[in-house]
Amino acid sequence: MSPRGRASLYSRLVPYLWPHRAQIALYLCLTLVIAGAELLSPWPMKLLVDSVVGNEPLPGSLRSLWSPGADKLGLLVAVVAGGLALKLLVSVVRIGTSFISVRMRQRVVLDLKCLLFDHLQKQSLSFYDTRRLGDIVARVNNDVWGIDEWMLTVMPLLVATATLLGMFSVMLHLNWQLSLVALFAVPFFYLPYGWYSRRLDREVEAVQRLEGESMSIVQEVLSALRVVKSFTREDHERARFLQQGESAAGARIRLTHQQVSYSMAASFITAAGTALVLGAGALQILKQRLTLGELLVVLAYLGAVYGPLESISSAATYTHAYLAKVRRIFEVLDVPPEAHDVPGAGVMGRARGRVVCEGVSFAYPGRPPVLHDVTLAAEPGEMIGIVGPTGAGKSTLVSLIPRFYDPLHGRVLVDGRDVREVQLKSLRQQVSLVLQDPILFWGTVRENINYGWPQASFEAIVEAARQANAHDFIARLPEGYDCHVGERGVTLSGGEKQRLSIARAFLKDAPIVILDEPSSALDARSEALLLQAVDRLVENRTTFIIAHRLSTLRGVDRILVLDQGRIVEEGTHAVLMERGGLYSGLYRQQVEYART
Ligand SMILES: Nc1ncnc2c1ncn2[C@@H]1O[C@H](COP(=O)(O)OP(=O)(O)O)[C@@H](O)[C@H]1O
Ligand SMILES: [Mg+2]
Repeated sequence: MSPRGRASLYSRLVPYLWPHRAQIALYLCLTLVIAGAELLSPWPMKLLVDSVVGNEPLPGSLRSLWSPGADKLGLLVAVVAGGLALKLLVSVVRIGTSFISVRMRQRVVLDLKCLLFDHLQKQSLSFYDTRRLGDIVARVNNDVWGIDEWMLTVMPLLVATATLLGMFSVMLHLNWQLSLVALFAVPFFYLPYGWYSRRLDREVEAVQRLEGESMSIVQEVLSALRVVKSFTREDHERARFLQQGESAAGARIRLTHQQVSYSMAASFITAAGTALVLGAGALQILKQRLTLGELLVVLAYLGAVYGPLESISSAATYTHAYLAKVRRIFEVLDVPPEAHDVPGAGVMGRARGRVVCEGVSFAYPGRPPVLHDVTLAAEPGEMIGIVGPTGAGKSTLVSLIPRFYDPLHGRVLVDGRDVREVQLKSLRQQVSLVLQDPILFWGTVRENINYGWPQASFEAIVEAARQANAHDFIARLPEGYDCHVGERGVTLSGGEKQRLSIARAFLKDAPIVILDEPSSALDARSEALLLQAVDRLVENRTTFIIAHRLSTLRGVDRILVLDQGRIVEEGTHAVLMERGGLYSGLYRQQVEYART
């Protein structure tokens, strides 16, 4: 990361810290208390060595408190007690700052996580078409902690800096020659930094990418576990995971090597600086320009000064890693959310359900066109069947209605209004979607049905389930509507899951219904139960039903035949059979197949 890039990252962090400015101010005040106490802490030792053990008079302001020759024991007790009180103060205030710091950091991280989660939900579907889910999960779960780690490193540096400035000024006052010697070492702390900085950036980036990939593998394999098991590819996946993990571990080890060797360089500089001051200080004592107690103070300060210097410079190497994580967060936050509402977009009240596509063309980003100049009109309450070979663009066409994607050319209208000109939320309230692979959530049957209307009464839920032919099987479940269905509804059969998703659509009661091959994965009996429910669902609703099995389309008013992104035929079953085109060909094929 260039210094400029880093500066801009820092400036982007400010808004996330700003709400916590009161706590930060309190933290800083306590920090100054600690710095002050640290500054005083070597002095009891000096008094002990010079005035209790030795015979130096007390320095300046303390001289009136105790006259030389009086009881030394009293002084000793006072000095030791003073030193203890000072240490106690530092510990208590440090504990206070840790509490403030941890509360603040947790809050900042949680706020950022929520922001990120919300942002991810608002991303368009095409955002996910081109990204690995595991990597995104890693960003939400791991990378957000970058800001916590960064604060954890940087905030103590504020104490370090305050202590540093105070100590140098006291040292300068005590003995400027020694201070100059001590100062001599300082630039050496920062010399290696420039060299390491560039290498660290590369390593840090690699570590994060590789660790994100590990997460992706776990996610992919676990969500396709059935396939993995059935092809008995566990060993292969394990090897893939291990190999990936080894590269990640290798990168992590290289990074740590560099960080550690940098710390070593810094410790060496500390040791060299201290030795130099010790020698020069002893020389000064021999020349009687310094007392032993003062040298002890200088050495204590030196330890306390080099400590922060060392931690500032090595923190600089660690903050690279933290900032790289933060950058991965901003990378996601920088992707604008799904097509948002145009200024002044109106709210769509309950639609009557007229759906029109006018000269619609569409292509997925970076792909050849999928839809070419598609024009169609569905009247309120009409049921339209869509058929065509796999890949013809059927699913794509219907996904333009709830505006999962925007057409490249042409318009999609609901009740005469361009879908891009109404508020997205109100548009999507008009559409119920039932997909081939029904999605259930971790929760109870009831929660899965009322997903679109959480305040629905229990009677309404039961009624929706009855309409969807789901009530009977739900009643047979151990806890009925409160029965827990696992993630993706693994404890239910495909037909049962599908009827639950139909019940969900009943409860949502939207005027437009889209069914994308709802029964393709079902056996004949399940399909019959489902189609009965579908017949009830589509009543008085504008319906698009995509079907592979043409027998599914018995009840439709009109059939559209899509081929390679174009509507090639349109009409009732009878008319299309008459025409003898693609539809009648598909139909004959299926009847033929059923007979054999
Ligand atoms: N999210 C996507 N990103 C890129 N290409 C896609 C995406 N979804 C579908 N496609 C491509 O668009 C074409 C039409 O797909 P689709 O509408 O799903 O067809 P159908 O539902 O008729 O089988 C196919 O060639 C498919 O590979
Ligand atoms: Mg499809």
